[in-house]
Amino acid sequence: MARGFFITATDTGVGKTVVAGALVRFLKGFLGLRVGAMKPIESGCPRQNGHLVPGDGTFLKEMAEMEEPIEEVTPYTFEAPLAPVTASEMEGTRIDINVIKEKFKILGAKYDAVVVEGMGGLLVPIKRDHSIGGMGKGGYYVLDLAMELELPLIIVARASLGTINHTLLTVRCALESGARVAGVVINHQTPASSEGLAGRTGPSAIKDFSPVPVIGEFPFTEVLNAETIGKAACENLGMAALQKFL
Ligand SMILES: Nc1ncnc2c1ncn2[C@@H]1O[C@H](COP(=O)(O)OP(=O)(O)OP(=O)(O)O)[C@@H](O)[C@H]1O
Ligand SMILES: [Mg+2]
Repeated sequence: MARGFFITATDTGVGKTVVAGALVRFLKGFLGLRVGAMKPIESGCPRQNGHLVPGDGTFLKEMAEMEEPIEEVTPYTFEAPLAPVTASEMEGTRIDINVIKEKFKILGAKYDAVVVEGMGGLLVPIKRDHSIGGMGKGGYYVLDLAMELELPLIIVARASLGTINHTLLTVRCALESGARVAGVVINHQTPASSEGLAGRTGPSAIKDFSPVPVIGEFPFTEVLNAETIGKAACENLGMAALQKFL
C-alpha cells in the first residue's frame, strides 16, 4: 500500500482539513515530496450547477496542486451534512470501499505520499453491512478504512475544554484496534484570548497522559492559505516524528 497519513480527529469541525492541507504543503514545499491528497467521502456538499461540490476535497486538491479531476480526490459526495452511512442511505448512493481503495492505490503509485482526510472521528459509521472492525452489529467505520489503507493516523484535537477526554478516548480506541498512530496535533482554532484556562492547560495535560507523541500545537492562523499553513506546519509540528512513517 501507499505511504502517507490518515488525518482523523476527536470530532467533526476540529481542524482536519486545515492540518491535512498544512501537512501536504509541508511535505511538498519543505521535504520536496510529490504529494497527493484524498477526502474519500464528503457530506454537506453544496450543489452548484447540478453538481455537489466537496469543499474539503477541493481545498486539499488545491494544496497538493493535483491535476486529477475532483472525483479522484473525493469519489463520494453527499448533500446532507450527516455521517456517511446516514447520508448515503438517505440519498440512495451505495458506498463501495473497493472504489476508494482502488483510487487510493492509483494515487499511491503516482505520489511519494498521500494524505487522506477522514470523516468526523474514528467511530463514524460508513456502512452497515461490512465489518472488519470487530465493533459488532456489522458496522464499517472510519477507523476500518484507515486500517485498510494501512496508513498511520494523525489525530487532530481541540485545545478547548473537554479535549483531554476526547483525545485520550480516540488514542485508546485506535491503539486497542491495532492501528498505527503517528501522534496527536493540538489545533488552536481560535485566538489564545478566547481559549481560556482550558486552552492554556489542556495541551500540556495531553502531552503528560497521551501514550502517543504530541506532534505539535498548530497555531491559530487568521488567513489560511498554502503559504501560511505550510509555514505554520514547518514551525510548529515535529516533523522528525512523522518522517519515520514515510
Ligand atoms: N488553526 C486554525 N486557525 C484558524 N482557523 C482554523 C484553524 N483550524 C481550523 N480552523 C477553522 O475551523 C473550522 C473547522 O476546521 P476544519 O474544516 O479544518 O475542520 P474539519 O475537522 O476538517 O471538519 P469536518 O469534520 O467538517 O471535515 C474551519 O472554518 C477552519 O477554517
Ligand atoms: Mg474537513
